[in-house]
Amino acid sequence: MNTKRVIVALDSDNLKNTLKIAKKIKSEVYAFKIGYEFFFNFGINGYNQLSKISPKIFLDLKLHDIPNTVKKGIFAIKKLKPILTTIHISGGDEMMKASVLKKGTTKVLGVSILTSLDKSQCMKYYNNKNISMLVKKMVKQAKNIGLDGIVCSPKEIKLVRKEVGENFIIVTPGIRPVNRNIFKDDQKRVLTPSKAIKYGADLVVIGRPITEASDPLQTIKEINKTL
Ligand code: C5P
Repeated sequence: MNTKRVIVALDSDNLKNTLKIAKKIKSEVYAFKIGYEFFFNFGINGYNQLSKISPKIFLDLKLHDIPNTVKKGIFAIKKLKPILTTIHISGGDEMMKASVLKKGTTKVLGVSILTSLDKSQCMKYYNNKNISMLVKKMVKQAKNIGLDGIVCSPKEIKLVRKEVGENFIIVTPGIRPVNRNIFKDDQKRVLTPSKAIKYGADLVVIGRPITEASDPLQTIKEINKTL
């Protein structure tokens, strides 16, 4: 794996500014992650502009539909050649099987339980309030079916790594550069980049602490020094 471990999330509706930041920091990142906001605002044109600056893109669209629809969607995504993309594990075994890409540059990651769901929501929709147990079951299945890795919260890295062993990619958002969330935002259960890597994550996703910093390049350089 590349020595760079930081994926920078570019969640923005300002294309010009986003591309400017990407140009500035591209030498320090493992990849750039774009999701609903970027892709639904700027589409394939925006994707291609970003890809010219830095070809390593994590296209985080979290697909969830019937197997045939997801399969066709994954094939369309594959043409854009992102290095990573995502589906929901809860779409079921057949949907996951339909998403497995054996060849090519794109690796498919499974999303387990959204971190926005608490115990009572898990009870309501999964009939189980033990989130760790649910995550464990889901990632095991994702690995058995042949996905390339998963996305999980900082809280679950150790548990997931233990469950899936070494040859399986763990990507973790919810990362904040210092050991407390001085960046007053919506991430509640946070971890520093170095702790996340120490606990077993391969790659960490960091967005606003870098993109909204007064000096994004200096910020990511400082983060990289800790890894
Ligand atoms: O700006 P911030 O560092 O919070 O960005 C984190 C990125 O990771 C965002 O793109 C967000 O959608 C994504 N993400 C997350 N928490 C999850 C899953 C994905 O923050 N549980």
